[in-house]
Amino acid sequence: MTQPIHKAIVPAAGLGTRLLPATKSQPKEMLPVGRKPVVQYVVEELQAADLTQILIITGRRKRAIEDHFDPDPVLLSALEQAGNEAVLAELAYIQRKSRFFYTRQSSPKGLGHAIALGADFVDNEDCVVALGDSLIAGEDPAAPLRAMMQAHRELKAAAVVAVEQVPPDEAHRYGIASIQGSEPPPGEPVAMTDIIEKPPRGTAPSTLAVAARYVFSPAIFEALARTLPDRQGEIQLTDAIKLLIQMGQPVYAWLLRPDQRRYDVGNFESYFRTFIDFALADERYGYLARQYIKAIAYEL
Ligand code: UTP
Repeated sequence: MTQPIHKAIVPAAGLGTRLLPATKSQPKEMLPVGRKPVVQYVVEELQAADLTQILIITGRRKRAIEDHFDPDPVLLSALEQAGNEAVLAELAYIQRKSRFFYTRQSSPKGLGHAIALGADFVDNEDCVVALGDSLIAGEDPAAPLRAMMQAHRELKAAAVVAVEQVPPDEAHRYGIASIQGSEPPPGEPVAMTDIIEKPPRGTAPSTLAVAARYVFSPAIFEALARTLPDRQGEIQLTDAIKLLIQMGQPVYAWLLRPDQRRYDVGNFESYFRTFIDFALADERYGYLARQYIKAIAYEL
């Protein structure tokens, strides 16, 4: 029987150029979405899926990520002495049972290159990859990963890749998967027959876009090692997955259910949308945010 997966890689070393100047001196993965930085949602999702060893791929100007997950005894004792239980509870994420590891990608040579830096950490086991700038909404954000890990085990897959439906005129922005058959049922693995990174407008083979969560067997590291850089000199994860398919390895797409929406902060449009949706859904401040939006709605 295969071991349960307990290792995850979180790539967070990209330059975030589409979010300048906000990302000039701070990582985009630390941008707040409501009351928490994006990468905290990602880590909490991984912890809820019992992934206890988390490798974050960082880079220059990314130190704030390490600080965020580092217990700060001075801050904690100041809060304790002040009896500030409510704020202490907000910092509970630091104490949860997971170990953090960090490695630096000195120059951002692509998502595939970043993940390849995790090969020694993964050490021939299966692993999860969760992009540090993307989060999953819903009652239980870890539900997709749990189901994907189960499917990965049952199917002895090389890869199970989360996908979501996107409008046809946006397909050129994403990695796009081709699958066996037509419309896949949400929440079930479907064999992937091909995958292409950012197809030119109007040429996408489907509207199934790769959605920032993956479960891999160690074969991905062999595929990454054999993947050539693209025209921009970047090693694309999508190209390595394509190679896995060409190598005859079992690769599956896993369609997120409509209530398990993927959000990202990759550009200002998606960041604003993400922030607004999460602020409106906030259990403590959502009511005030909704009231405010209603009040100004007539001006929009
Ligand atoms: P993106 O391609 O959206 O991020 O990568 P980017 O390169 O930071 O964005 P722009 O184009 O410059 O605005 C998605 C995730 O993969 C990580 C990013 O940090 C992000 O979390 N990534 C990307 C790396 O870790 N290394 C890379 O070389 C590229």
